[in-house]
Amino acid sequence: MNYYQLMGQKEILLVDDTPEHIEFIVSILSEYNFKIRVATKGKTALKLLKQHRPDLILLDVYMPVMNGFEVCKLIKSDNFYSDIPIIFLTASNDEESIEKGFELGAQDYVVKPFNSKELLARINTHIKLKQQTEAIKEAYKELDSFCYSVSHDLKAPLFSINKLIEFIFSDYSNPLNPECMELLNNIKEKSDEIIKMISRLLEFSRMCKLEMKSEEINLKQVFLDVYAELKNLEPERNISFNIQELPVIKGDSIMIRVLVQNILSNALKYTSKKSHAIIDVTLKETKNNYIISVKDNGAGFDNKYSSRLFGVFERLHSENEFKGTGVGLAITQRILKRHNGKAWITGEVGKGAVYSFSLPK
Ligand SMILES: Nc1ncnc2c1ncn2[C@@H]1O[C@H](COP(=O)(O)OP(=O)(O)O)[C@@H](O)[C@H]1O
Ligand SMILES: [Mg+2]
Repeated sequence: MNYYQLMGQKEILLVDDTPEHIEFIVSILSEYNFKIRVATKGKTALKLLKQHRPDLILLDVYMPVMNGFEVCKLIKSDNFYSDIPIIFLTASNDEESIEKGFELGAQDYVVKPFNSKELLARINTHIKLKQQTEAIKEAYKELDSFCYSVSHDLKAPLFSINKLIEFIFSDYSNPLNPECMELLNNIKEKSDEIIKMISRLLEFSRMCKLEMKSEEINLKQVFLDVYAELKNLEPERNISFNIQELPVIKGDSIMIRVLVQNILSNALKYTSKKSHAIIDVTLKETKNNYIISVKDNGAGFDNKYSSRLFGVFERLHSENEFKGTGVGLAITQRILKRHNGKAWITGEVGKGAVYSFSLPK
């Protein structure tokens, strides 16, 4: 059994309108246990794609009616097909096409006239890469499920410990000596802390697993609603909340709300020791992205540690200074990743912090 048979039969969709190319490629690939389907027009290619997902697409640049670029653009814009590797078939002197192909999300190109060894090597590389990416994704999923079930299973015994302590406090007939009371109080505080951490971990896991909806969301309204809710919890505070016009975006409304909750609750928490807190929400636009920044004049942090903060349980402030679990920023990063966005944070000790995130337009 050779290597190609071991790999299991892989399916390639060949999209080309030149009979000699088709014949040549089919003759090479069929020798190596590939299953090949051929489309001579862009439209047919899209139809064949929908009938069955191939492992890789070989796509000719120049075809009448719908050219290779248009086909590539359509495939890459559909979430269900966008991860199928595409290799463009181009002429050797056609640098412009090669560049455009990469811009549109193609993985590679081969030049005509084809060298059969090179063609095979490139096809195999991309099929292997795709398999490895899938395996990594699967491993992450498993890790997430593991994290979820461990957290979930730990919650019940921890609740029991809490209940038992409460029981000793309230129902135990012998009065407890003060030292014992203090120790029990400490145990209760610690177990409350762990329960909080576990609840946040479960929330973190949920943000990875939750099925995403795509809805229109008025981002400014979400900021205003969440701010009103949080301010309600500490109405005595003196806070200036300034917000610019923000776009209507597409995303999952629950996740975006959780995102804003985590950002604003940090801004409010880390300004809680200032007599006058100032929080500014601003918008910048680039060609492809919206960039939203939330600036506060709170405790800030040493900027050289900023990249750490998106890790689970990473904190730069002690529990005595500011209460927290260190999961909030990790949750925001997950949510943004799922929306094809990014997050970053900068800070200056004593001056404040700026949390920024980008979302594609
Ligand atoms: N607005 C902010 N101002 C100052 N420090 C911040 C701010 N936001 C986040 N941080 C720092 O990043 C850490 C992680 O934030 P987060 O994940 O939300 O956890 P938590 O708020 O529960 O501590 C915080 O502990 C804090 O040190
Ligand atoms: Mg937080």
